[in-house]
Formats: sequence, structure tokens, C-alpha cells
Amino acid sequence: MGTCSNQITLPLLLVISPSFAFAIKEATVNQIQEAFKRKELTSRDLVEFYLREINALNLLLCAALEVNSDALDQADRADKEREAAHGECAKGLHGIPVLLKGNIATRDQLNTTAGSYALLGSVW
Ligand SMILES: *[C@@H]1O[C@H](CO)[C@@H](O)[C@H](O)[C@H]1NC(C)=O
Repeated sequence: MGTCSNQITLPLLLVISPSFAFAIKEATVNQIQEAFKRKELTSRDLVEFYLREINALNLLLCAALEVNSDALDQADRADKEREAAHGECAKGLHGIPVLLKGNIATRDQLNTTAGSYALLGSVW
């Protein structure tokens, strides 16, 4: 069965061909997990896709305060775990990048500030 880490939920995220991009934007978590199992998509593809979306839109939207610089490494780890477990890990949020509100502590290099400099450096 392999080891399916519970910690491979990627805080933030986005290479996928342009024709695939629309499908990704509209896909449910279950549809993404099925695409992982069919090897049509990897976590790295998904993270690269969302990183591109953030880079393209954040100047206008200012929605993402920070991007986890470990996201691609975490995606690669999730892809390796899924491969080693012959797809068994392809469930729940394993390998799915997520966007977290700034008041959710991740215990990694991301700042947990709730959008306020007053909380910069706080450890939760
Ligand atoms: C956390 O905040 C500091 C100070 O603003 C900044 O230099 C650093 O890049 C932030 N961390 C991340 C992961 O963005």
C-alpha cells in the first residue's frame, strides 16, 4: 500500500497544455484524483498551473499574500508517494494544492499574519 503522508496538502499553488487549463479550473477534487490515477495529471502539473495563474492574476487581484517556495518540492513528493503506492494515495487532498487564508498556521516558512504586520513572526 505504501505510505501516504497526510502532510502532502500543498499550501498554495499551478504545466498543463492550454487546452487542459480550462478543465483543471473547473475540475473537482475527485476528478483531479481520478486524473492522477489515470496518470493524465501530476501534482507538479497542478502546482505549476496555479503558480502561473497566481503570477498572471495576482497583480490585479492581490489575493495571494505569499506562495510556499516548497510547493513544487511537496508536489514532487506527493507524485512519488502516489507512484510508489500504485495510486492508493490518490484520494482526499493528497497532492492537491490549496490556498489558505492568512490566519491558518502551517508551521512552515509561510507567515501567519491574518493580513496584519502586527502578527508578523508570530508562531501558532
Ligand atoms: C514572511 O514575511 C517576511 C517579512 O515581510 C518576508 O520577508 C518573507 O518573504 C515572508 N515569507 C514568505 C514565505 O513569503
